[in-house]
Amino acid sequence: MKILITGGAGYIGSHTIIEIIQNTDWEVVSIDNYSNSSEGTYDRIKEITGKEVQYYNIDLRDLSKTAKVFEDNPDIKGIIHFAAFKAVGESVEKPLMYYDNNINSLNNILKCQAKFNVPSLIFSSSCSVYGNVEELPVTENSKLSKSESPYAYTKQIGEVMVNDFINVNKGLKAISLRYFNPVGAHVTGLNGELSNAAPNNLVPFITQTAIGKLKQLTVFGDDYETRDGTCIRDYVHVSDIANAHVLALGVLIDGNAKKEHDIINLGTGNGVTVLEAINAFEKVSGEQLNYHIGARREGDVESIYANNEKAKNILNWTSEKNLDDMMLSAWKWEKYLKKNNF
Ligand code: UD1
Repeated sequence: MKILITGGAGYIGSHTIIEIIQNTDWEVVSIDNYSNSSEGTYDRIKEITGKEVQYYNIDLRDLSKTAKVFEDNPDIKGIIHFAAFKAVGESVEKPLMYYDNNINSLNNILKCQAKFNVPSLIFSSSCSVYGNVEELPVTENSKLSKSESPYAYTKQIGEVMVNDFINVNKGLKAISLRYFNPVGAHVTGLNGELSNAAPNNLVPFITQTAIGKLKQLTVFGDDYETRDGTCIRDYVHVSDIANAHVLALGVLIDGNAKKEHDIINLGTGNGVTVLEAINAFEKVSGEQLNYHIGARREGDVESIYANNEKAKNILNWTSEKNLDDMMLSAWKWEKYLKKNNF
């Protein structure tokens, strides 16, 4: 049985491929167009797992090329759809680029799921669908506020598309996973996030500052109503996130899904402040981080963290790695990148 991973050369996609190879007997077929990744990811996957991945360089907006992958691999029985643009700020600057890529790619994946009768789909969603939250921790039933960015809106629309599609395609099932803040790298330090652009997320910013690629980290505001004044997020190790995909697909494949389309939060349930994240990094790395307190970043929410009961109940998933593990693995990866001249 084959599983199609879209965005398999990307950050969460590549970690999911590693978990699939190491924990299941599923074969992986990957599609990526390297818009924010590179072919070299497959070498790193091989270094960690010893296995070659079958892969295609395809833009999912091209329906005929996408369909050809299904024609060539009739034993694809599940899809994990990661491929999408994900930078919030960029999506505000270039909204049509986000609507074009994120919506049309999903549209084509759903068309192929129906045409080739692939029973199971996992869709990458995000906690950004909640917008500004009114209650904490956030449950899957929390109200979805107006999205704060085109990126977040593509995830809201994506969930609705999957839902409407599954409603009328009997026999097909899906789970949408809403990630909180995936961070860290593979425990070996041999695979991690390798964006083509400068980072705007906290952890790569921390490690790139510590290694000297960036001069200084700005903490975006310390006047929030939190325990130390900095924003609270639910950071979750990327390998834990990856593992949740394996469990979710397993639930669908084994026929254990209670709903045709379910939606599940992936977070640790623990809120961490920016300063706590920095302190954890300094502790595990032994490095003194050059940072200062700056102004608030526009669009940031004060606090958000997950209620993860549903993931426990339905997927039997909880995160295994703690904040120190996240920071240590991210630091190992940053040092690997330096050693290998990335
Ligand atoms: C954002 C997206 C989310 C996406 C996630 C991971 C929104 C509303 N959410 O989350 O959808 O899944 O990225 O890709 O945009 N910070 C600093 N200095 C920095 C960078 C960040 O202080 O240089 C702070 C931020 O203010 C925030 C925290 O670190 O409090 C985390 O920021 P970031 O990693 O960018 O993630 P989010 O904004 O939470």
